[in-house]
Amino acid sequence: RLLIIDFGSQVTQLIARRLRELSVYCEIHPYQNVTSEFLIGFAPKAVILSGGPASVMTEGSPRPPKEVFNLGVPVLGICYGQQVMMHMLGGKVERGHGTAEFGRAYVTPEDAKLPLLDGWFDGGKEQVWMSHGDHVSAIAPGFEVYGTSPNAPFAITADTERNFYAVQFHPEVHHTPNGAKLYENFIKLAGFSGDWTMGAYREQAIEAIRKQVGDKQVICGLSGGVDSSVAAVLIHEAIGDQLTCVFVDHGLLRKGEAEEVVTMFRDHYNMKLIHADEQELFLGALDGQADPETKRKIIGGLFIDVFQKYANEIDGAEYLAQGTLYPDVIESVSFSGGPSVTIKSHHNVGGLPEKMGLKLVEPLRELFKDEVRALGTELGLPKSFIGRHPFPGPGLAIRCPGEITRAKLDILREADAVYIDQIRKHGLYDEIWQAFVAILPVRTVGVMGDGRTYDYACALRAVTSVDGMTADYYPFSHEFLGETATRIINEVEGINRVTYDITSKPPGTIEWE
Ligand code: XMP
Repeated sequence: RLLIIDFGSQVTQLIARRLRELSVYCEIHPYQNVTSEFLIGFAPKAVILSGGPASVMTEGSPRPPKEVFNLGVPVLGICYGQQVMMHMLGGKVERGHGTAEFGRAYVTPEDAKLPLLDGWFDGGKEQVWMSHGDHVSAIAPGFEVYGTSPNAPFAITADTERNFYAVQFHPEVHHTPNGAKLYENFIKLAGFSGDWTMGAYREQAIEAIRKQVGDKQVICGLSGGVDSSVAAVLIHEAIGDQLTCVFVDHGLLRKGEAEEVVTMFRDHYNMKLIHADEQELFLGALDGQADPETKRKIIGGLFIDVFQKYANEIDGAEYLAQGTLYPDVIESVSFSGGPSVTIKSHHNVGGLPEKMGLKLVEPLRELFKDEVRALGTELGLPKSFIGRHPFPGPGLAIRCPGEITRAKLDILREADAVYIDQIRKHGLYDEIWQAFVAILPVRTVGVMGDGRTYDYACALRAVTSVDGMTADYYPFSHEFLGETATRIINEVEGINRVTYDITSKPPGTIEWE
């Protein structure tokens, strides 16, 4: 396995990503945790030193243990990783003075050939992504230069004798279009056969869960979303009935959702599942509440209370399982003293376990979303389940702007089911990041048959997105929209007008509240 020592770059996760695409198993550890003992125990086959925001010239700035350079394995330093390597091995690093580089740059080759650069420089130069204030001003003894850019005379350096490689740019990012090739060459140099698979991950993860948990009891909040479902199935495979799942039904789920989750996990997977039917509690508390933040806070608070209540009934529960993914970890890592700067806190991490005095089991911590889907497929979860659109914790509450009533929720559920059915029938489901109906807090006049109607209006929403942070509305055809509106008005009692929301995010958000 390969060890990535993280010095806090925002793009460290992409290094792991590139390596997994090459079927190599790697782990990222923040530099604070990588002591000499850790390093020797880990016994990496290769090490990558990530980028990071610090300056090696600053007192107390991060360093890897010096044993990294005595392991006899290939080491690749990236950006800050390059500078720290040069600094520790006898080279020199200097402050910017007009040589800082941010963004696109072009690297051209030197005469000497380097196996790391196989497949590079075929066109005479390579586009790379730079992001550095400091730069190397003198390379360490034993190193040679293999590539330069206008502002980085030591853009690519290597000590081929010792298998040390150091680059000033970020090969892991999209804007270094040929960067994956460098990683491919690096892992070849390190002797990885590239045979890591999801099947292997599954076995390793199961072993790790058994080792961590022993004979203790684990509880898991199961939402029916992809992440918590995959985590639960994996943990169940590892420890069977030591796992109890709690599925909180807050009355804000979509049509048929509760039955689907209960059938699948209890009947099909034979898991211990508590179906916490707390609709009365949630809907009662939401009665008369129209303010979006108040609604969210009521739901969030009750969720914790309810989960705790059921968890307390499980004898001897010591662990809480969560479907935390790698992007969640990196976003919140600065909470736990990690090196990167906080971009935002995440709702999946923190809160519950401290409050409940439970230890965490997070078997998906190292994976990205599409890898979780691959693992879910490996575990036999149905494709329709794996590919589901995201569904927010507060559920239909935030798709029913203003006051919630049971009647409105029932209408919303029916309309949403027709809309999603239309999208599936037209083969569009997988092209869309998220699609749903919002029921509007207005009633409008219509005419059906020979009679007057006075019913609710609804809005259809469908967006494309990569990560939910930005989004664009989906360009349905007019035929599709017309057909869907007709079906909803004909099939759903209580709606007589359909609109399509064409707002992007920003300035809108995906949900209506
Ligand atoms: P917005 O509406 O902020 O939503 O553009 C972005 C994505 O996040 C989902 N979302 C939530 N998910 N708890 C969740 O688990 C929440 O409170 C929550 N609010 C929004 C939303 O469905 C979209 O995918």
